Amino acid sequence: MPTQTFVAGTAPGSLPVVGHAWQLMRRPLEFLSSLSEHGDLVEIRLGPTSAYVPCHPDVLREVLVNDSVYDKGGAFYDRAREIAGNGLVTCPHLDHRRQRRLMQSAFQRSQLERYAPAMQAEIEATTSGWRDGAVVESFPQLFGMALRTVARTLYSVPVEDDLVHRVEHAFEEVLSLLFRQMFLPAVVRRLPTPGNRRYRANLDFLHDTVQNLITEYRGDGEDHHDLLSALMSSREEDGAGLSDQEIHDQVITIMAAGTETVAATLTWVFHLLSRNPDVEKRLYEEIDTVLGGRAPEWEDLARLELTDRIVTEALRLYPPAWLFTRRIAVDTELAGRTLKAGSTVVFSPSAVQRYPGVFPHEDDFDPDRWLPDRTTNLARRAFVAFGTGARKCIGDIYARTECALALATILSRWRVEVEPGADVRPVMLATVYHPRKLALRLTARAKG
Ligand code: HEM
Repeated sequence: MPTQTFVAGTAPGSLPVVGHAWQLMRRPLEFLSSLSEHGDLVEIRLGPTSAYVPCHPDVLREVLVNDSVYDKGGAFYDRAREIAGNGLVTCPHLDHRRQRRLMQSAFQRSQLERYAPAMQAEIEATTSGWRDGAVVESFPQLFGMALRTVARTLYSVPVEDDLVHRVEHAFEEVLSLLFRQMFLPAVVRRLPTPGNRRYRANLDFLHDTVQNLITEYRGDGEDHHDLLSALMSSREEDGAGLSDQEIHDQVITIMAAGTETVAATLTWVFHLLSRNPDVEKRLYEEIDTVLGGRAPEWEDLARLELTDRIVTEALRLYPPAWLFTRRIAVDTELAGRTLKAGSTVVFSPSAVQRYPGVFPHEDDFDPDRWLPDRTTNLARRAFVAFGTGARKCIGDIYARTECALALATILSRWRVEVEPGADVRPVMLATVYHPRKLALRLTARAKG
């Protein structure tokens, strides 16, 4: 196979002082996906510094699989470490492999099978509060559901409703302020403004709560058959496990990484189904055929094939985890360009998942493009909604399981229609890419 030559370029339209930061904040996805017109690796200006954006799927892949050269760091990860400490998402390459080995067992299939009933119970609890004819705002509803689901799979001991609500609120606040904090200079972040104080207070509350849960589990020494027990009992060959501080960071990491992302994915699925009635019809048929009106279980997932392809295609068109950074550890070369140690790479799945030529009719919602006989190796490589390489999302199957259980439960009982007046522009400076406003009208489906 001939080796491909990649071209490096520079983005036009840099403004004085801010560079391209304004475009990145105002129209993030249009801006990022437009960059491929200028090269396979494109230099942009963010304030006084440069950053490099991989636009060709194989250039991005090179960055992601060489995680010792392109290490976690840069504005996104520096801020994220304030929340998640040195957890699996944020830790540098040096600490990563050991942490990943210790975490992996908590996410293997046999464990997921154990979490599925807890996920299902939480999905049931959320949807049983819905009434025929009700209109619910999609993202906040599903965010609450996803947060309680992660909490229940992590920590299976019942918790008072009041604490659950406070944690839900604190997470919402912290996550919504994360990106704002990323774009603010350090001096402004330290000012005692009401926003900064709220961010700090909510973060402190979350850290204290998580510490209490860990102390409680250490005290009773039991195996609760949940994610937290799995993390606490995981051991390396030499018998060493994760320290309390590391478990703490992993709990916050999992809650932060696994909630808004899932809520956004489901919200985008509802948006896409509302615009593609043929696919929507086939999805209802699949769910009815597989479940025949009963609640879904782990064993059903393998037969909910279209459901899974719909989730994949939604993640391709609207990847919720949309912007990450890397810091270059040693001088290196990429797409024919020398990049200095200390430089920043900014990457977004959105910049490559609609790359022209990789996906026919790249802007169309076509879940069947993921059928085994239709997909290509390049398309599989270009799908990076969960990242790739050693730092690929550890929760990908977890997320797919939860999304499939949620869709199957909701659609087997409700006809879901998107209300007029939706605003699907991304929320400015939000950590996760989701519509500003998308309300769902729920009509109970006749039984039998
Ligand atoms: C649809 C939902 C999700 C999406 C789109 C998503 C996306 C991602 C992406 C893109 C990365 C790589 C980041 C990078 O390379 O800088 C990542 C890493 C990670 N995600 Fe997810 N994620 C999702 C759900 C979850 C869930 C449910 C969990 C946990 C329950 C989770 C836990 C993690 C962790 C711990 C990492 C770090 C892995 C490592 O570095 O070894 N994610 N995720």
